[in-house]
Amino acid sequence: MTIGFSTTPREGEIPLVIPVIAGNGENTFAALADHDPLIKDTIARAMTVAGFQGEADRLLTLLVPVQNGLRLVTLAGIGPAETITPQSLRSFGGAIAHHLRAHKHDRADVILAPLAGIKRNLVDMALDLAMGASLSGYSFDRHKTQANAASPLDLCFCLPDARLAHEAFPRLESLMRAVWLARDLTNEPANMLSPMGFAARCREMTRNGLVVDVLDQAALKELAMEALLGVAQGSKEPPAVVVLEWKGSADAPVVLLGKGVTFDSGGLLPKGPEEMWDMKNDMAGAAAVVAVMGSLAERGVPVHAVGIIGLVENMPSGHALRPGDVVRSLSGKTIEVLHTDAEGRLVLADLITYAQQRYAPRALIDIATLTGAMTAVLGQEYAGLFSNNDSLAAQLSQAADSSGEKVWRLPLCDAFDKMLESSVADVQNITKQRMAGSATAAQFLSRFVNNVPWAHLDICGTAWRKDKDPYGVPGATGYGVLLLNDFVEQTIN
Ligand code: BES
Ligand code: MN
Ligand code: ZN
Repeated sequence: MTIGFSTTPREGEIPLVIPVIAGNGENTFAALADHDPLIKDTIARAMTVAGFQGEADRLLTLLVPVQNGLRLVTLAGIGPAETITPQSLRSFGGAIAHHLRAHKHDRADVILAPLAGIKRNLVDMALDLAMGASLSGYSFDRHKTQANAASPLDLCFCLPDARLAHEAFPRLESLMRAVWLARDLTNEPANMLSPMGFAARCREMTRNGLVVDVLDQAALKELAMEALLGVAQGSKEPPAVVVLEWKGSADAPVVLLGKGVTFDSGGLLPKGPEEMWDMKNDMAGAAAVVAVMGSLAERGVPVHAVGIIGLVENMPSGHALRPGDVVRSLSGKTIEVLHTDAEGRLVLADLITYAQQRYAPRALIDIATLTGAMTAVLGQEYAGLFSNNDSLAAQLSQAADSSGEKVWRLPLCDAFDKMLESSVADVQNITKQRMAGSATAAQFLSRFVNNVPWAHLDICGTAWRKDKDPYGVPGATGYGVLLLNDFVEQTIN
């Protein structure tokens, strides 16, 4: 997709799209009058005849005579001003792109009129629309021998401050590429993306000052990351931990940890077929971390950030962990593995310890498709946020607001902690009561955190769409890239 910004529509019979806010027709007309008085009169009349008032999701397409021919004009209702948010604008941008593609248009000019009663300025609105249009064009067709890739679309957003939008656009483009990378990695089938294959993809990201360090199986054994190694031991695929460091400032780093289970069969306690279908996505947290690290380096963001991902495949075999096995984590704490399908927390426990041993993080954030229970609680809209630190939780909530990737904070507490007491080891990896599944998983992780501001994001519901996302795209969403990026950027004072 090509996206541009201009103060006036391009010459020729290029279709126009005009977003109309409910009850804001007058402003739209005023802006149009600057472009072409003929258009203004026809449109004002057409809106009255059709009874179009800018209702959300309503489209009205007209052919309008202009100075040297005809223009196809689509009036696109956005709904009332109060309902407009960055996310609604993104979905709207996606809907416009879908509409154009469905009608076989390969280009259009989108006219943005100054809108009364809207807090968001026109430049930000143009960028939101551009982002939605671009994200809606995603499809994962790498393995289709006859790809029917979305036809390329050439959009030009017309607004008075086109230059400002143009200058701000490279940041957005970098972030969109990052979202696409996270989606591509997550959608990749597990036979095409093993732990070492994923590590190799990370190595290829060594540029723009991003330092990539791969700890292979031998290095992990040397370190004695035995909780992580325990998960990996049932698979023929060797595990890896990848450390990506971007030193854009001399401050203590923000450390991002990602769960990278390239396939989660459940191990010796396997999932049923329907639960297992999508388990290639169990590395979505790692994908988000890697993608955001690449974008921070690409843009030269002045922060010190470190991404650490734990890559393993969870498989049943004669070598696999048995229920009841005890593993010794990197921290020295022993873990009774009651359930082989509660593997993500074993991987993260060792990453949490490793991050604290190797760095003095000013914040430690892990992101993981950790518990199916998350979907029951918050569905596909909100990720679960757990934290030992109120101000870190507040910062993440603020980043959720600005990025549109929502979080909802859930509690940790001593009572949950007690449920994890094991009779044979220091801690057990599930509670036998099977209550508060997401919170007790978070509580388990907190056992490995030593006095560092820490937050855990459970993205089980938000990372993957079984059906379709708001842009009509199934599968990986890339959730977390925009959230973590905004969080990291907002730590710059
Ligand atoms: N990767 C799964 C969680 C998951 C479920 C992610 C559905 C995406 C979609 C995780 O490793 C897991 O299996 N969790 C178990 C924990 C249980 C055994 C305590 C679960 O949620 O059932
Ligand atoms: Mn599992
Ligand atoms: Zn898992």
